[in-house]
Amino acid sequence: MDTLDVCTVPGRRQRSHALSEPHALPPFTPELAAEMAPLYARVQHVVTPMEWPAYAPLIKAINDLKKKRNAVILAHNYMTPEIFNCVGDFRGDSLQLAKEAARVEADVIVQAGVHFMAETSKLLSPDKTVLIPDPLAGCSLAESITAEDVRMLREVYPGVPIVTYVNTSAAVKAECDICCTSSNAVKVVESLGVPRVLLIPDEYLAKYVQTQTKVEIIAWKGHCEVHERFTADDIAAMRAADPGLKVIAHPECPPEVIAVADFTGSTAAMINYVTSKRPRKVALITECSMASNVAVQAPDVEFIRPCNLCPHMKRISLENIYEALRDMKYEVDVDPIVAAKARRAVERMVNLTN
Ligand code: 13P
Ligand code: SF4
Repeated sequence: MDTLDVCTVPGRRQRSHALSEPHALPPFTPELAAEMAPLYARVQHVVTPMEWPAYAPLIKAINDLKKKRNAVILAHNYMTPEIFNCVGDFRGDSLQLAKEAARVEADVIVQAGVHFMAETSKLLSPDKTVLIPDPLAGCSLAESITAEDVRMLREVYPGVPIVTYVNTSAAVKAECDICCTSSNAVKVVESLGVPRVLLIPDEYLAKYVQTQTKVEIIAWKGHCEVHERFTADDIAAMRAADPGLKVIAHPECPPEVIAVADFTGSTAAMINYVTSKRPRKVALITECSMASNVAVQAPDVEFIRPCNLCPHMKRISLENIYEALRDMKYEVDVDPIVAAKARRAVERMVNLTN
């Protein structure tokens, strides 16, 4: 990825990363089990007793290191439940995490999510150290378009504003007028007060937004490799097995899936739907870990788990979060000229939705 760098901003003061004492993993003793029991109670429906002795020492070490480093962990809704519930300080969809990154007071942000999310945090918190536990945690949408592609679109559609989904690199954001997430895409498009906009790079999100607005939307051909795999036949088979099932889909799904869903929304909107409406049984048409995380908040709801895993989100583990905080790696930085332009697009969105 072209904007990841290990702390290379000229003149930047290098922090000392040394801890006053070596930080080893504690053994899983009866004392540690007792100390961690309240955290296990939170996740016992989704983490087995066999898994917990492997997770608990890492969770303890991560939570201790967070205090030593004055660090916070921003955890996306697609993180596995032991990360999301046991070490995440702020949890949410892309918009909620971006807003949190802008106001957080810690020295260090660990992004439990993918690379574009870490870049967004760095744009909004340029003075903080932003770490990603695995620098290869990418995104098929972010990889579907380059800054050069956006410059080409400007030539083909002169004067048409370009809205970029947050799932893009900082270099792409720098070429665009405003950013959006799946929570606010319609609002962002309509805020521009023009008859026509480009909404890049997710073709399916653009098509979904087109069903919600009179503004003409021009799309790019990017797709999420997780959501594009769902089909209307999958939904029909689930409904045939239980006609009372509620089906809720992420707007990155193909239009024929969204057309047969009961509700469509961002990961945060999906969670709100389940926790407020408490359907008897629900299918979340999105990444697999969402169901486990919502189940912690709504244990009375039965979930159908169509298991499409995001291979990028699943690169983040308790092990590499621990190593990130122990060794202060991998630091995400953005070229200052790119960052200044990209920040404008992200801040314009954040200000609109605050
Ligand atoms: P949300 O903004 O809905 O959390 O989506 C992010 C994402 O990557 C979905 O695939
Ligand atoms: Fe990207 Fe899709 Fe993974 Fe989200 S789920 S990070 S859009 S590949």
